[in-house]
Amino acid sequence: MTDLPTLVFATQNEKKLEELRILIAKKAHLISLNELDFNDEIPETTNTLEGNAYQKALTIYNRFGKPCFSDDSGLFVKALGGAPGVDSACYSGGRDSHKNMALLLDNLAQHQDRSAYFKTVFCLITHDDTYYFEGIVDGIITTELRGTNGFGYDPIFIPKGFDQTFGELDKTIKKSISHRAKASEQLIEFLNSSDL
Ligand code: IMP
Repeated sequence: MTDLPTLVFATQNEKKLEELRILIAKKAHLISLNELDFNDEIPETTNTLEGNAYQKALTIYNRFGKPCFSDDSGLFVKALGGAPGVDSACYSGGRDSHKNMALLLDNLAQHQDRSAYFKTVFCLITHDDTYYFEGIVDGIITTELRGTNGFGYDPIFIPKGFDQTFGELDKTIKKSISHRAKASEQLIEFLNSSDL
């Protein structure tokens, strides 16, 4: 048995859960929505990452009354006014990442400035307060798809300081420099210095 506090990760993504579970192992007993038998779609209807992360965490906190956190991420392209941003998952109207990348490359074709960043926001709701943690990785958008690693927009994003896309780079490199890694570090640091 463990006497670590229980913390819910409001995600249905098992890969994200496993990643965070390892990082948080010493501080909290991380439980998933599956373990809580929660399979409903969680609403994500705001127009910011912060708003969506809050909405997801609040839905689960209200339902189960346990400290809870959630994440929301997106790709923000400067020349496109921050698009696809909060709509990254369904930019072309659906979750097909090849269609999403094709639309983005098309929309960016006439622009010189190809700078962009990935951003992740974590929202943590405890019994006392609500906290936000964020991570950003800057980079540029390529003109064509390169590499097959990762998911989403990885084949068209070159992180700053590298020549290869996230689709080409070794997975361990992405894991150490990504927006999600940076936001996770902030969350872990907070959990290490406070009680839930
Ligand atoms: P989520 O909030 O982590 O589910 O991310 C929303 C969407 O942003 C994903 O469906 C992807 O299209 C995009 N995205 C987020 N993180 C990444 C990443 O690390 N690589 C590529 N695309 C990402």
